[in-house]
Amino acid sequence: MAKTVKLLSENFGKIRPDSLEDYLNAGGFEALKKAFTMKPLDIIEEVKKSKLMGRGGAGYPTGSKWEQLYRIEKFPKYIVCNADEGEPGTFKDKLILNYDPMKLIEGMIIAGYVFNSNHGYIYIRGEYPDSQNIMQTAADVLEKTGYLGENILGSDFSFHLHVRTGAGAYVCGENSTLLNSLEGKAGRPRKKPPHLAEVGLFELPTLVNNVESLANIPYIVLNGGDKYASFGTEASGGTKLVCLSGNVVNRGVYEVRFGTTLREIIYELGGGVPNGRKLKLVQIGGSSGPCFDETLLDTPLCYDATWKNGITVGSGALLVVDDSNCVVDFVKCITEFFVHESCGKCTLCREGNKQLLKIINKFTEGTASEKDFDAIRRISDAMTNGAFCGLGETASRALTTCLEYFKDEFEEHINGKCRAGVCSFEKGGE
Ligand SMILES: Cc1cc2nc3c(=O)[nH]c(=O)nc-3n(C[C@H](O)[C@H](O)[C@H](O)COP(=O)(O)O)c2cc1C
Ligand code: SF4
Repeated sequence: MAKTVKLLSENFGKIRPDSLEDYLNAGGFEALKKAFTMKPLDIIEEVKKSKLMGRGGAGYPTGSKWEQLYRIEKFPKYIVCNADEGEPGTFKDKLILNYDPMKLIEGMIIAGYVFNSNHGYIYIRGEYPDSQNIMQTAADVLEKTGYLGENILGSDFSFHLHVRTGAGAYVCGENSTLLNSLEGKAGRPRKKPPHLAEVGLFELPTLVNNVESLANIPYIVLNGGDKYASFGTEASGGTKLVCLSGNVVNRGVYEVRFGTTLREIIYELGGGVPNGRKLKLVQIGGSSGPCFDETLLDTPLCYDATWKNGITVGSGALLVVDDSNCVVDFVKCITEFFVHESCGKCTLCREGNKQLLKIINKFTEGTASEKDFDAIRRISDAMTNGAFCGLGETASRALTTCLEYFKDEFEEHINGKCRAGVCSFEKGGE
């Protein structure tokens, strides 16, 4: 029986987010006190042992990222927390921001201490006004009580936290775009290299980590990397906040050990598909993630195991779609999102998404032909290999993976049939 664990979510709903007293009573800032007795490289060693992989989507090992930044001898350095959480179907960082903001701040202060950085920025998506207020209030409380600001806890280390907000562009979650936006520039990505560890915020060395990644740091420092790793698998240490949404009985955020299978998450924690319907597809990692059918449900949630099965953990979103939905209609919806969110900087993504949408519309209108499969393949290959940033590279992933698993449904549309009966030709061409 799949179980949830409470490593990161331990304080959710139990403490008041603006109460330092509550946070201290729950063991808050013990990790920071311990960190101050440790050498920065020893903290990095624990992060490496923890096998924490970045929780923002790309899954890059946090310990290696920290080590690379540590080795750069250029100052000042900046700590940036990515709280843009723009990936559709992803709503786990919001819980950390709203229910345990001081834990995230503690993680950022520890990161600041490791890199001898005196300034941290948290970039919160525009659509989360409550989270912005909660974070600012928590930061103000900590500034007044000596946990933030000059000479933290009487030490010679100072750290100032700046809460900043985005304006609702999905691409601003991409780390270089986020830094441009923080600097007040247009939300468009930068060319890499140079990497952000070398030329980041204000062209200075910068750490960009996701909310969930940073909020795990206090546990790792306090209990050791090995202990954290022991909650997960050989390849993926610790736990993951999973966002379960769509056609499932119990939608919500679950903290699970890595290694829990997708089936356990959907059927045991999520209660399965409601209303007697059947599961048709699952999309993992948000709208930029791959889709698959029930044959992959026994895949353990783990960076290695998902990768071997051609899928990803991504941001931890799991969207369940039942058989009352049309696959073509589903990918149309996703492609419309990418047409809207493409920043327009590069042709392949700006025009490619529009062309893909035109072709998908032909399927939903009943005017597509076999030749359109080839056009989809050519356009999506060009986007995946040539787009300027991750948005364009992954925008066609839902479409191409749906074609892998559900080509028969696309073919039925060529023959004038939509199984779910939702496409326009089924409704008399409206
Ligand atoms: C289009 C796009 C959107 C992204 N949105 C987010 C986001 O909302 N939050 C996030 O943490 N990472 C997002 N990322 C990933 C970041 O670029 C980056 O990998 C991450 O912040 C690094 O932190 P981590 O190593 O802790 O995961 C996005 C990437 C792309 C390409
Ligand atoms: S792939 Fe190109 S157009 Fe699309 S968001 Fe990135 S830079 Fe902008």
